[in-house]
Formats: sequence, structure tokens, C-alpha cells
Amino acid sequence: MKRIKDMDVKDKRVLVRVDFNVPMDDEGNIIDDNRIQAALPTIRLLQAAGGRIVLMSHLGRPKGERKEQFSLKPVAAHLAGLMGQEVKMAPDCIGTEAEAMAAALKPGEILLLENLRFHKGEEKNEPGFCQALARLGDAYVNDAFGTAHRAHASTAGVADYLPAAAGLLLEKEVTMLRTVLEHPEPPRVAIMGGAKVADKLGLIRNLLHKMDVILLGGGMANTFIKAQGHEIGRSLCEHDMLEEARRIMADAPQQSVDLLLPVDVLISAEVSEEAPVQVVGVDQVPADMMIVDIGPRTCKIYSEQIKRAHTILWNGPMGVYEHRSTAQGTNQVALAIADADAVSVIGGGDSAAAAISLGLEDRITHISTGGGATLEFLEGLEMPGVQSCEYDDKLYVSSPAESQVFVVNAE
Ligand code: 3PG
Repeated sequence: MKRIKDMDVKDKRVLVRVDFNVPMDDEGNIIDDNRIQAALPTIRLLQAAGGRIVLMSHLGRPKGERKEQFSLKPVAAHLAGLMGQEVKMAPDCIGTEAEAMAAALKPGEILLLENLRFHKGEEKNEPGFCQALARLGDAYVNDAFGTAHRAHASTAGVADYLPAAAGLLLEKEVTMLRTVLEHPEPPRVAIMGGAKVADKLGLIRNLLHKMDVILLGGGMANTFIKAQGHEIGRSLCEHDMLEEARRIMADAPQQSVDLLLPVDVLISAEVSEEAPVQVVGVDQVPADMMIVDIGPRTCKIYSEQIKRAHTILWNGPMGVYEHRSTAQGTNQVALAIADADAVSVIGGGDSAAAAISLGLEDRITHISTGGGATLEFLEGLEMPGVQSCEYDDKLYVSSPAESQVFVVNAE
């Protein structure tokens, strides 16, 4: 069993791994419910097919201990609001009480299990824990793309004990990310930002073989700017990555890739909302200042490249986008992507949050729910959570448009 549409779930308990690892404030209010919203098509499809739904997720990193601040109870309440129906909450993710609650579910009813990571067996993928989870379902669906890079009990091991299939979100993520990597229509432009080069090295290397243009910004660009021989003052810099940055810059022309760096930048004496900023050329950063965003000339060059593209991949903000004074670079990139006549994919995390905060989500082809998972997928690494449900998009979906239609129809 590989695909949720092919699974007979009528009257069955369907154990669904979702990624409800959502940010919350100190009072347990959910700050960004994108991942919960993204799980709704699968839940609704299972309801329409007469399934009894048992949801499981992790939240945070409680490291195998029960810690109330990592309880999924606020998520159950939020999901109930979105679904307009009761979402029962099991006190634990395994054990007799959870089993009784799962057994008592009627078709269409929803049970959310407590945080999987309250047990060490989850991250260790222990067979005993996998079996305990498997007792809660007659079938297993993995829809947690955001956690598909982890070989945990709920993302991998449990599939050994139940008929398994990929959920609609996982299908859509795999299809869209693979479209960008394997069937991109030129011109292909990647925009890479965020704080650290070390986190993105594998991805940049992989993209050198797949893209026509790579635009660099954010903290990670500083290391490249320094490697070009420019002064970057007190800016974030990974000195141990300078050599690698030089190698990437040398490799890019050999792969016929235009690797573009900022030509001007915003600088400030400190990272704060109030601190004054000023625009300087990339070769004019004073020793006592730091780079906090790309400059207006760079924005213009990057926007023109983006608007010409037919395939766009964006991962990581261009500056300190949380502050209004240094959000222009990130915002301009997001707007240019929304304007482009292209298949556009945003690779999760901060860039996704930026696009959503600008209300651009409907003008982007796909905003990934993954952070680390999306990076690893785009790097070409193996994904245990995709393999566990033996999902192979090549067998099913031939184009992103088809995938979109499929997801929309399921809602
Ligand atoms: C994420 O937020 O990237 C996923 O939920 C995975 O979380 P993890 O990095 O704690 O495994």
C-alpha cells in the first residue's frame, strides 16, 4: 500500500503521523498554524472515506521525558476549532487508555495522541514502541513531511507493522520539491539566504548542478563576501567556511551557473528594531558595522533575475526580516517571486513565514511545511519517512498541476 487514495479505510482506525510541531508563545497560543492547516486535506479525505482517525505528532524536543510545556493539548483545541468538531485528546501516545480511546472512535471522529517524544522509544525507533503505536491503528498514513528526514518509530518503524501509505501533504511536498529538482523549466533561479553557510552547504552544492542562477543573501552571504576579499566588519561570518565558499565560487562558472552576491548592503551598528541603518557598496563596510540586509541595487538585480525565471526555489531570508527596517530585501524577493510566471517553491522556515506574513501564499506554487526535512530532500538525501510508506511520486503524479488539482479535490 503506497497511496492514501488506494487504501480502504472504511470503519478502520487510521494511525496518521502528522507534523504538529508548531511554534507557541508562553501561554500555549499557537503563533503559526500552517502545519496544522496543511494536514487538513488528509484528515478530511479519511473522514470522507469513513475512517476513524488517530493522529500522532511530536512537539519540540522533550528528550523522552513527560514535560507539560510540550503537551499537544493546545493543538487539539486549535484543530477542533479548524475542523468544527471535537478532537479527543489521549493522555499518552501508547498504552491501554489510548488503545481504548482509539477503539471507541466512530467513523469521522478524531483522536490526537499526546506527544510522541515523551517516550525515548520514539526517537530510538525501538521495535517495542513501534508495536505499541501499531496497536492503535489498522492502517498507517505518514503525512508528516516536516519530520520525514527522521528515522523515528512514528515516521519509519511503525510501517513494518501496518499497511502504510503516504498522506496528501507528503505526496504534494515530494511532488513539488522533485519538480524543482528534476524537471525544472529554465531559466531556473535559486535564492539562498539565512544565517549559516554550514547548514546549506550540501544544498548549494546540489543546486550547482540543477540551477542556472543562484542568488545569495542573508548572513550566509557574508562569508562569501569575505571570501571575495571584502571587509565585512562585525558581520556574522563563518571563518572555517571561507575556503569552501571560494571553492563554490570557482565551481559555479564551470557548471555554467551565475552565482550572484550582493553589490550593496544595509549596515547597522547593532541588530535591533531602532538602530539606524545605511546603504553602502559591498566593498565599503566599515570595521565597526555589520551587514543586516541586502541593499536596493541588489534587490533590483535579484528581482529582475527572479521575474525572468520559470522555476524558482527560495530558502532563507535576505536579512534580519523580523525588523521592519531590515526586511526590505526579504520582502522584495518574496514579491518578485509572487510576480514571476514560474513554478515557485519556498523551502520552509523563515522564508515561508515571510511570504505568508505578506499574504503572498496564493501566488506561490508551493510553500513547504518542512525546515530541515526540505533542506535534506533538496540536498538529495534519503528520507526515511518517505521510504517507510514506499511512496514514489513518479508512479502517480506526472505534473505539479495534477498534484495541485488532486489536493484541492480532496478538500
Ligand atoms: C521541524 O520542525 O523541522 C520538524 O518538526 C522536525 O523537528 P526536529 O528537528 O525536532 O526533529
